[in-house]
Amino acid sequence: MTKAPLRVAIIIASTREGRFGPTVGDWFAEQARQREDLIVDVVDVADEPPPSALGAKASERFARVTATLREADAFVVVTCEYNHSFPGTLKNLIDTHFHEWRAKPVAFVSYGGLAGGLRAVEHLRAVFAELHAVTVRDTVSFHSPWNWFGGDGRPNDPEGASAAAKGMLDQLAWWGHALRDARAVRPYGS
Ligand SMILES: Cc1cc2nc3c(=O)[nH]c(=O)nc-3n(C[C@H](O)[C@H](O)[C@H](O)COP(=O)(O)O)c2cc1C
Repeated sequence: MTKAPLRVAIIIASTREGRFGPTVGDWFAEQARQREDLIVDVVDVADEPPPSALGAKASERFARVTATLREADAFVVVTCEYNHSFPGTLKNLIDTHFHEWRAKPVAFVSYGGLAGGLRAVEHLRAVFAELHAVTVRDTVSFHSPWNWFGGDGRPNDPEGASAAAKGMLDQLAWWGHALRDARAVRPYGS
């Protein structure tokens, strides 16, 4: 059993021009970086979309993303909602990896219209179950985030938003430690 900080990869899913994703993602990464029990990496899917076909030759930059995912003990996916689901670019990132997700926890920060991106999160739970990942119960969710975040990139209700982030990260850290310890004792699966 090790108490060493957990390495958490925060994945920013949306890639569209003018996207709101980095505002939410940067705020959340700042929350995570304040914790001494976490080491934070950010993977922005917009930096370089994954190869569009499974098995396509990955670039050096994409290989670095793969290494970041492999080294992570836990993940936080920052996702919006498009047409009641999550962005296709995120699905491509998920599908171009397999072992990187296995026996690790995944938590979600979501945003969107009135549903706050929660329908995207429910779809992601099913996808990550297929990949042998466990999803964390609590979600940090913002409906119509453009009404929540000021021009300084901070939420209008910083205490409430920070409390939600802390609760979710506490759950992620519990799972992250439990599964990292378990993977060290015996390899996952048959
Ligand atoms: C193509 C498209 C489809 C959308 N569909 C939904 C939806 O089904 N439900 C919802 O709550 N919001 C929906 N929205 C609103 C987005 O969740 C919102 O604009 C969000 O900011 C998008 O994330 P992004 O700015 O990082 O790209 C949609 C937006 C776009 C552009």
